[in-house]
Amino acid sequence: MTALAHRPRPAAATRAATIAPVVTHGFEIRPLDAPLGAEVLGLDLNRPLSDGDFARLHRAHLDHHLLVFRDQRITPAQHVAFSRRWGELEIHVLRNFQLPGHPEILQVSNLRGVDGEPLGLGDAGRYWHSDLSYKDAPSLGSLLHAQELPDEGGDTLFANQHLAYEQLPLALRRAVAGRRAEHSYLARYEELRARNPWRPKLTPEQIAEVKPAIHPVVHRHAENGRAALFVSEHFTTRIVDLPEDESRDLLNQLFDHSTRPRLVYRHRWQPHDLIFWDNRSLMHLATGCPDHLRRHLYRTTVRGSVPVAHHLDGSGHP
Ligand code: OGA
Ligand code: MN
Repeated sequence: MTALAHRPRPAAATRAATIAPVVTHGFEIRPLDAPLGAEVLGLDLNRPLSDGDFARLHRAHLDHHLLVFRDQRITPAQHVAFSRRWGELEIHVLRNFQLPGHPEILQVSNLRGVDGEPLGLGDAGRYWHSDLSYKDAPSLGSLLHAQELPDEGGDTLFANQHLAYEQLPLALRRAVAGRRAEHSYLARYEELRARNPWRPKLTPEQIAEVKPAIHPVVHRHAENGRAALFVSEHFTTRIVDLPEDESRDLLNQLFDHSTRPRLVYRHRWQPHDLIFWDNRSLMHLATGCPDHLRRHLYRTTVRGSVPVAHHLDGSGHP
């Protein structure tokens, strides 16, 4: 397997005599044939990850925005521990869908427990969105681990928002320059609840926890420095300082543009996939599966920072 072979590095060889050997995985990062994403092959997250290997993954995550770790037979505790290496973890507002014993894990599931109660959020991601964009500090990224997959359907789509901005027609680019938009968890909550009554009625405490946030329409990614569109049909309610009809019209044009097929990768889940996407670079959408088929996944969500506006330079170019 030459593709997985590790090339010896002279520096490592000379240090080896004096320093305890670091377990390096000869893993491969293979870009997907898509506008985003890379597969990580030959890495076992059961084993400790060296700082060097972590740095390689970090670089790949910033470059590709989505990493697909194949065949990860890890426990929830290992999923949480790996997620923590990327930052602080969020506890989702829908506490009833936590994995018992692991509050950092949100169950994305259409299964019911022995008591007949839904185990998880069965309709997570039914509109394009970036996780937790309704918070002042939205999410850096989310890690979703497949537990049970349907034979049919259940794919997840991802759209590259750096490319969406770069490919924005000039008139739209001018229209969004310097604009800010409101994001709200409540924007479509009641509509989703009417269709999926297993979504709990939110308590006043939960509603207070998800106050809307205002973010730049075009932000500069905190780590890779690239501009990206940051509005979504799920959570973005309005563009600040525009009349309602103009705001709606501009948002609809942005939603159409930002999810065009040429920006999209379709993830077809394989057993034990763990995927880690960058919520600052991508939006995602669950395509859904027939109700009678079982689909069960675990999600952790890494906290990010307050988005910073991307400013055009004097030339009017991004
Ligand atoms: C999520 C989500 C999509 C899916 O877990 O954040 O949007 O396909 N899931 O389950
Ligand atoms: Mn999501």
